[in-house]
Amino acid sequence: MSYTIAVCGKGGSGKTTFSGLLIRQLLEKQKGDSIIAIDADPNANLDEALGVSADNSIVALIDDIAKNPDKVPKGMTKNRYLEYHVQDAVVEGEGFDLLAMGRPEGPGCYCYANNLLRALIDKLGKAYSYMVIDNEAGMEHLSRRTTRKIDLLFVVSEYTVIGLRSAKRILDLTRELEISVKEARLVVNKAPQGVDKLRTEIDKMGMPFAGAIPQDEDVFNLSLDSANVMSLSQDSKAFQAVSRIYEEVSCLLNK
Ligand SMILES: Nc1ncnc2c1ncn2[C@@H]1O[C@H](COP(=O)(O)OP(=O)(O)OP(=O)(O)O)[C@@H](O)[C@H]1O
Ligand SMILES: [Mg+2]
Repeated sequence: MSYTIAVCGKGGSGKTTFSGLLIRQLLEKQKGDSIIAIDADPNANLDEALGVSADNSIVALIDDIAKNPDKVPKGMTKNRYLEYHVQDAVVEGEGFDLLAMGRPEGPGCYCYANNLLRALIDKLGKAYSYMVIDNEAGMEHLSRRTTRKIDLLFVVSEYTVIGLRSAKRILDLTRELEISVKEARLVVNKAPQGVDKLRTEIDKMGMPFAGAIPQDEDVFNLSLDSANVMSLSQDSKAFQAVSRIYEEVSCLLNK
């Protein structure tokens, strides 16, 4: 059974950067364990951040099949057909696999497709030790409940009061939606030295603080060079900070 880590936060707060650096920590510190990264953002770019290229048509395909079951080849069950496509959409990175969900085509109700997708992801996840889900900013994915059970939820916030309040709303939303979250941790990104000025606000969150990631020019420069977080130097401030955050939560991961 896999250990599910979900990363949420406001748009641009650093979810994808953090997810990528967290995967690097898992690769380095949980050697031998298998990892699947799930890009649940329809404007998917976790694949780019991790230096792989994903097929992100899976949600559209599931939705299409749900609406047009006659597209399933004769002699095959719908589930088997979809399972095959989900497996086919998984791409291999260096030491991890990745599945990008993509987006449905056009408006409509996707409950049926979402239920199918959830079952498929649950099944796929069982083959891995760790599942790391990079969520979209709008929280649609959580609202659609394609993830039901989260062992560790990271809520990433920028170093602003508004960002922290929005992080708190995200945590509240998971409670309203009755998503099972075993542990939740706050990560403050793009922080100056220390987080003293916002300490009171952080303490009011009702969510333990896992640590801060400083504003890091090396991370910014990656986007200028169209490089990815896999190539971020281990000496960089952001890498070091995520390493400390990882140590902070490692007792949860090894349970
Ligand atoms: N600690 C940091 N220092 C400097 N730049 C950063 C840091 N963290 C993230 N960034 C930059 O901020 C931008 C947004 O980061 P990222 O894509 O990780 O956020 P996101 O929350 O995944 O965004 P989206 O909501 O669009 O998916 C990127 O250009 C990234 O390089
Ligand atoms: Mg992102």
